[in-house]
Amino acid sequence: MALLKVTFGFIVMSVLSFTSSLAYPGFFSWGGTGPAGGGSFGLFPEFYQFSCPQANEVVMSVLKKAIAKEPRMAASLLRLHFHDCFVQGCDASVLLDDSATIVSEKNSAPNRNSIRGFEVIDEIKTKLEEACPQIVSCADILALAARGSTVLTGGPYWELPLGRRDSRAASLSGANTNIPPPNSTIQNLITFFKRQGLNKVDLVALSGGHTIGVARCVTFKQRLYSQNGQNQPDETLEKTYYLGLKSVCPRSGGDDNISPLDFSSPVKFDNSYFKLILSGKGLLISDVVLFTGNIGDAMELVRSYAEDEGLFFHQFAKSMVKMGNINPLTGFDGEIRKNCRRVN
Ligand code: HEM
Repeated sequence: MALLKVTFGFIVMSVLSFTSSLAYPGFFSWGGTGPAGGGSFGLFPEFYQFSCPQANEVVMSVLKKAIAKEPRMAASLLRLHFHDCFVQGCDASVLLDDSATIVSEKNSAPNRNSIRGFEVIDEIKTKLEEACPQIVSCADILALAARGSTVLTGGPYWELPLGRRDSRAASLSGANTNIPPPNSTIQNLITFFKRQGLNKVDLVALSGGHTIGVARCVTFKQRLYSQNGQNQPDETLEKTYYLGLKSVCPRSGGDDNISPLDFSSPVKFDNSYFKLILSGKGLLISDVVLFTGNIGDAMELVRSYAEDEGLFFHQFAKSMVKMGNINPLTGFDGEIRKNCRRVN
């Protein structure tokens, strides 16, 4: 009987999502609340069950090729979703190019010369437009690509709520003010995350995204040569790690030289990021202050995730769902872009 009820509920929900997704995807309510709840039009994992059942397969097949060709691409795509969600919500605003009506977020300080992966998103979108025209939003593609990239590098899988729609606007100033800079104090990081409805647990777990990918010399140079305004290196840096970093990141020049955020396994999603922080080998100030910033619960979380990879994976997945739920456009809001780089 219980099974029958569950099955029936699922069918009703699926049919509703199908019929509604044709005209106004997302016309279905979980009764979600608050800034991260999506108002009365909620997101749900089966959103494309009938309107584009192959959506995730298409995303994964493009990702597999792209990541095999360049392993760093997984990291770049994970970061794109983060930079999307922190600026007016997860609405693919980060993908919009400059145009007569758009001032692109791509030129903001955190994004310029830095975020990448747009060609991979374009390829996914082209394939999805062939398979199911104007059904799958660019914002959902970003969320699916972030999950897929995590899974393909060895990280956790999560049930991903879908049904985001795409914005018709971007916010350059939002990108400049809402994305935390790499030299943030722990207090600043907490404030930036709180603004998005995310707490300290989310902050520490999501920072674990730095278990893959790289950063440019310019983002950590200050630590090597002039921490705290004196001509001294950051004293929390382990000595041999510090010497290695100096060789890729000279005092003058070399700003675009790159170093892995997790040098022990830069293309593997694991918990070594936290182990490195404990041993003075975290790369960015924003990474090390999670442990050195004197906020007891953050320090404790770094220790726990370093000790227990399963615990980190579990919380990372939970916090990714939470981040992915920041202010989505649903129901009648926004649109489904045909090309992720421009409004229809
Ligand atoms: C806590 C605040 C955060 C700060 C201050 C921060 C800062 C940065 C910086 C400065 C870089 C290097 C950019 C460059 O050199 O061009 C970077 C890279 C990266 N970030 Fe973060 N980040 C934060 C949170 C996150 C979150 C929440 C995620 C995802 C869940 C994430 C995922 C990544 C990834 C995967 C890369 C490597 C990208 C690549 O190799 O292309 N970061 N981050």
